[in-house]
Amino acid sequence: MGEIVRLQKYIAMSGVASRRAAEELISSGRVFVNNQKIKELGTKVEIGADTVMVDNEIISPEVKKYYIMLNKPVGYVSTVSDQFDRPTVLDLIGEEIKSRIFPVGRLDYDTSGLLLLTNDGDFTYKVTHPKFNMDKTYVATIKGGITPKGLSQLRSGVVIEDGFKTSPAEVEMILCEKGYTKIQITIHEGKNRQVRKMFEAVGCKVTELDRIKIGTVELGNLPLGRWRYLTSHEISYLTK
Ligand code: URA
Repeated sequence: MGEIVRLQKYIAMSGVASRRAAEELISSGRVFVNNQKIKELGTKVEIGADTVMVDNEIISPEVKKYYIMLNKPVGYVSTVSDQFDRPTVLDLIGEEIKSRIFPVGRLDYDTSGLLLLTNDGDFTYKVTHPKFNMDKTYVATIKGGITPKGLSQLRSGVVIEDGFKTSPAEVEMILCEKGYTKIQITIHEGKNRQVRKMFEAVGCKVTELDRIKIGTVELGNLPLGRWRYLTSHEISYLTK
């Protein structure tokens, strides 16, 4: 939900008039909210949701842009709401952000790790559009082991669905223990459940999946379930 403010404040925030002058605009019937003339001064409007017009022109306040990184735990959906009422990643953000933010791309319910959120549609476009080939790096834990042939198939590309062959991926085994193996994998495509399907294609079952990096932007030691603002360096790198 966007911030809720009095109509005269909304008009002032939009740079159209001072609050005092905005009150006069409202009283004289020159202001419409959602196509209805409003003459009451106490009226509240929601930034980003209500449409406000002054003299037949839509006005909107400068909305501050937010760029956030969250360490998403398993058990949260990365959508704004969920048809099954499961917790959403927005439940982890809290009250500090007074704007309607949304996840940049998706992580599965059963995937953890680096998820970006913003209220800037251009940013989302640049980070998620396939033509920008943004690398995403995951650590996958698989049951048992993987053969050298499996690793090299993942590296050169595997068919995961409807004849779709994945692009070459960077794949590195980082831990091999009795019963499980951890593999770091970097891809730039974003098919649904792509990493899990790639491992399935070489006969491996992913038991845990954690995203640790988008491009060169790293999750680092951000605790699970916590978020932080991106640095200006990270924002300009992701939008370059
Ligand atoms: N690949 C997957 O399988 N799941 C994710 O959440 C992201 C990439």
